[in-house]
Amino acid sequence: MSIDELRKEFQAALASARTAEDLQNARDRFVGRKQGLITALLKAVSAAPADERRALGGSANALKQEFEEAWRARSAVVEAGAAPPDALDVTLPGRVPRIGRRHALTQVRERIESIFAAMGYAVIDGPELEDDWHNFEALNMPPDHPARDMQDTLYLGAPLPSSDGRREATLLRTHTSGMQIRHMEAHPPPVRVISPGRVYRRDNFDATHTPMFTQVEGLVVDEGITLGDLKGTLRAFAERLFDPNVKTRFRPSFFPYTEPSAELDVGCFNCDGAGCALCKQSGWLEVLGCGMVHPAVFEAVGYDADRYTGFAFGIGIERLALRFYGLDDIRTFYENDLRFLEQLPL
Ligand code: DAH
Repeated sequence: MSIDELRKEFQAALASARTAEDLQNARDRFVGRKQGLITALLKAVSAAPADERRALGGSANALKQEFEEAWRARSAVVEAGAAPPDALDVTLPGRVPRIGRRHALTQVRERIESIFAAMGYAVIDGPELEDDWHNFEALNMPPDHPARDMQDTLYLGAPLPSSDGRREATLLRTHTSGMQIRHMEAHPPPVRVISPGRVYRRDNFDATHTPMFTQVEGLVVDEGITLGDLKGTLRAFAERLFDPNVKTRFRPSFFPYTEPSAELDVGCFNCDGAGCALCKQSGWLEVLGCGMVHPAVFEAVGYDADRYTGFAFGIGIERLALRFYGLDDIRTFYENDLRFLEQLPL
């Protein structure tokens, strides 16, 4: 056993000594005249080669000295009946357990859900593996429709049976809008639903894009639904999510499944409308697409387009969460750096 190992051994033996007997056993084991480990080391010195003898003798003697000092110190503690060192020390600071929390994106999604739930919307769920009909065709995008290029689709290597068993899933859904179709196929009007979920696109990974992100789809269908209902609903939503004075604007846009179509922007929190890199100098941040449901969509699901009208919207949760938390890079939501995520307010 080396000098260092011997030292560790006797330190451990003394630290666990509680009684006079333990102390005596430690003496016998390390410095006992016949069997002592340190005694044996000292005896070995005389047998060592002449040039090593001096150094070895020095450290063996020093070790014996150390043992004697440690032994005396420990004896004093044991005699005084002091607490053994491995007993519970109630003065040590406690170990605070790390408390888990819901991810920032989950919190924003739940907030969105509760705002719409309070307005009477049902929350529905749907498959991420989708077929062409629900993701495109029934949404007024036939196979060669140029609007399919608006989103870079990730296709499956081989088709899989879709969740309803009637079609083949060939792609990862590029948006949650297919849930409009799925819901209307299964339910007659009136409709008032939102459908949150993950969507996938062949996008680069940068400050404003990730290949997977999250949307909340919304759909309202009934007799007499107007563009006024759409604007009032989404303005009320923005007020509840942000604050009653949030700046909003509806900007004309295009989606094949709505007519007219619009996008809702909110004032840029970063520059307060003055123009900055985040809002691309516009002073506004885009948070959702929306519009009045196109009659072709009603036809695809067998709704009477003369009798019913409706509006739809698709919210991008990540963009909205950036706005909500005052952040400027979507990637931070997915890098799972707890030091960062834990700082976001609940
Ligand atoms: N599907 C669109 C997208 O992914 C968002 C959207 C726009 C959804 C208009 C809608 C809508 O329901 O009416 O960008």
